[in-house]
Amino acid sequence: MRIVLLGAPGSGKGTQAQRLQAEHGFTQLSTGDLLRSAVAQRTALGLEAKAAMDAGALVSNQIVLGMIGERLAEPDTAAGYVLDGFPRNLEQARALEAMLAELGQALDAVVLMRVDFEILMKRLTGRRTCSKTGKVLNVYFSSKAELDECIAAGGELLQRDDDNEETIGRRLKVYDSETAPLVDHYRDAGLLRVVEARGSVEEVYARFLAALGINVQ
Ligand code: AP5
Repeated sequence: MRIVLLGAPGSGKGTQAQRLQAEHGFTQLSTGDLLRSAVAQRTALGLEAKAAMDAGALVSNQIVLGMIGERLAEPDTAAGYVLDGFPRNLEQARALEAMLAELGQALDAVVLMRVDFEILMKRLTGRRTCSKTGKVLNVYFSSKAELDECIAAGGELLQRDDDNEETIGRRLKVYDSETAPLVDHYRDAGLLRVVEARGSVEEVYARFLAALGINVQ
């Protein structure tokens, strides 16, 4: 399957995409992760992207489209993929349609993770990433066992630079003005499926699989 995950920052796109990849083999393609990796490697592209990311703004379409175009051509996308955080505006959505047409592919579903604002704030300020395993955790919602597992493996619980209240506020505004219009775009295309993303990771995952029509044994 080829899936787009839509949803506000903190709605759980990365968490659900990681799990779907681990259990069902669809490759997670996260533009946020690709950009953070370019920033960490201090590539020219990463340095250019960093200012926008720190400000909670979108990185230029030119950079993001170049990156995703290269990534879609890699062999691990053949068994299906989940686009996590892309597209993020109408220009990116139209460019994706053109890229897929060229590859002879089509999207199977666009899943919107819907969740209230207050929940988003708590999820984002509490988010930590394990430096060892890359697992996304949360100081408010993950179990002590999960957090301890990272430390025991020799990892650190890292907080993202853009997970401070000021930048989170800007990211949420950008989502409303630039990305939310994609909901109507994909509803009109007959691809939209809505998942209520409140509740535990497990509960949301069960709804996510059901929305994709994936049966759990
Ligand atoms: P990106 O990395 O895509 O960030 P985002 O869209 O803001 O989304 P997040 O990663 O913050 O949230 P998520 O929905 O994945 O939530 P998660 O699963 O981690 O983008 C970062 C920046 O890069 C952008 O601001 C922009 O500058 C740039 N960028 C990226 N893509 C771009 C593009 N296409 N075009 C232009 N610029 C682009 O969960 C959050 C927390 O909640 C975690 O701690 C998790 O453990 C916890 N959690 C998740 N689900 C639950 C649950 N059900 N119950 C309890 N806790 C939960």
